Amino acid sequence: MTTDEVREKYLKFFEARGHKRITPAPLVLENDPTTLFTSSGMQPLVPYLMGETHPEGKRLVDSQPSIRTVDIEEVGDNRHLTYFEMLGNWSLGDYFKEEQLNWIWEFFTEGLSLAREKLWITVFEGGGGVARDEESVEIWKKIGIGQERIFYYPAEKNWWSRSGTPEQMPINEIGGPTSEVFYEFESIKHDKKFGEKCHPNCDCGRFLEIGNSVFMVYKKTKDGLGELPNKNVDFGGGLERLVMAVNDNPDLYQIDVFQRFIGPLEALTGKSYDSFQREMRIVADHIRASEALVKTDVVPGNKLQGYVLRRLIRRAAVKMRNLKGNLQKTDLSFDFTDGVRQVVEEEVERFDKTLDRGLKEMEKIKKIDEKKAFDLYQSYGFPLEITQEIFAEKGQRIDKDKFEAEFEKHKEKSRTAAGGMFKGGLADKSEETTRFHTATHLLHESLRRVLGEHVQQKGSNITSERLRFDFSHSKKLTNEEIKKVEEMVNERITKNLPVKAETMTVKEALDSGALGFFSERYKEKVKAYSIGDFSKEICGGPHVAATGEIGRVRIIKEESLAAGVRRIYVSQTAQ
Ligand code: SER
Repeated sequence: MTTDEVREKYLKFFEARGHKRITPAPLVLENDPTTLFTSSGMQPLVPYLMGETHPEGKRLVDSQPSIRTVDIEEVGDNRHLTYFEMLGNWSLGDYFKEEQLNWIWEFFTEGLSLAREKLWITVFEGGGGVARDEESVEIWKKIGIGQERIFYYPAEKNWWSRSGTPEQMPINEIGGPTSEVFYEFESIKHDKKFGEKCHPNCDCGRFLEIGNSVFMVYKKTKDGLGELPNKNVDFGGGLERLVMAVNDNPDLYQIDVFQRFIGPLEALTGKSYDSFQREMRIVADHIRASEALVKTDVVPGNKLQGYVLRRLIRRAAVKMRNLKGNLQKTDLSFDFTDGVRQVVEEEVERFDKTLDRGLKEMEKIKKIDEKKAFDLYQSYGFPLEITQEIFAEKGQRIDKDKFEAEFEKHKEKSRTAAGGMFKGGLADKSEETTRFHTATHLLHESLRRVLGEHVQQKGSNITSERLRFDFSHSKKLTNEEIKKVEEMVNERITKNLPVKAETMTVKEALDSGALGFFSERYKEKVKAYSIGDFSKEICGGPHVAATGEIGRVRIIKEESLAAGVRRIYVSQTAQ
């Protein structure tokens, strides 16, 4: 069965039982600064699980694209993914354990025809003031499951909240006991290094969790666990894992959605998947996750979501280089749409420029420490995982927390150093930011020529990765307008126009046709920068000497900032 078929069957099954199919949330949640990514189906539904009324009713179903970076080290085995879809159904104070357990059993055994004798059940053994879940056990027995197939586990396994066990939950966090279903792969033999006896939560790979029914009825208070206004059900099941169970194949990377990666990987590297499973799985997982992130408008960068994307692409690039013996910009392109391909190729190219030098530098290091690992990141763009992998192979470990501390120390330093510069919208004076600074003038003038003279710069912010530009305009830009602006800017860049500064009074500058919309900031004498005879603008600099130094640019995002103000992001296009 294909992934699409399993998803559709699940959604239809619960729709037929009164559930409303809701639109999944974006991978990057807007207005939620507490988390980088949507990592479970319940995350966007937290207010409703806490008691708010959901506009679509009390029974909901969806398939939620999710990213979990905590599992990144596990990726490469037969079952872990960074990006996956989570099937979910919810009862917001409507049905409870009886219906949920009956329905999920019916869906697995009749909807998907999973063999009953391969399914195993786990329930909460009690603890932290919450009783052992005998109620669920009774329901499972009524369904026809023998006691020998039902296992009790403590909160570490059969309690769900976004932060773990009841003790780990912060005040106001919601959670509850779970009952999970596991699928048994008979072809995997138990390995005693994981314990004397095999059982559903054993890590040997024989059992796979395919569904988690959370009975979401608790909220942490300062006095311990309190009750939520409603008795809710929060079910989550990894879609890709379910497809694995349906096909009775213990390798997640052999389901349909990975075929577009594994086949081309074998062809490109001349190596077989069977001999290089771990590396190929990492490339496939990371690149599939990167594709999803780029489609959500994340661009590679040094912060937050952008940094995760950068790590994924670069780690995949290193694995690819190991597999293939060299690295080319198109090696990770697969069958992406143009937009995704461009972002991935540009990042590979950027990384490739420093990769060899970085690897040589690494060879010189006898003993790695957190400071050196940070320097490798800082100078050559090596994400921590890559440095870790190379030195772990040598038995050397890097402490993640100490590495993060180095990162923080550095951020603090650059914040202090750049403190004064932010006023001009510039984060530092590196070559890249200087190039973007000149590009700002070209962009400003081009926007005025394409959209009209009402366009006035409202603000800008430049980092070495991108230029952000805010301007007055009340409508969303059409694709055609974006293209025209881009072309106009790039045409001036290609012409290698000279950039010249003249010092004069504000009045002289404005009289000579220079743009200047921040007049209150200007002193008596100002500098007016002209770019050929295309643009003239009052500005403090710094600027490149001629536009050719900028290199071609591209508008990567356009959005509304406030009423009548648009914001665009521009980055460099790889040459
Ligand atoms: N919230 C639970 C999970 O993520 C079930 O949806 O596993």
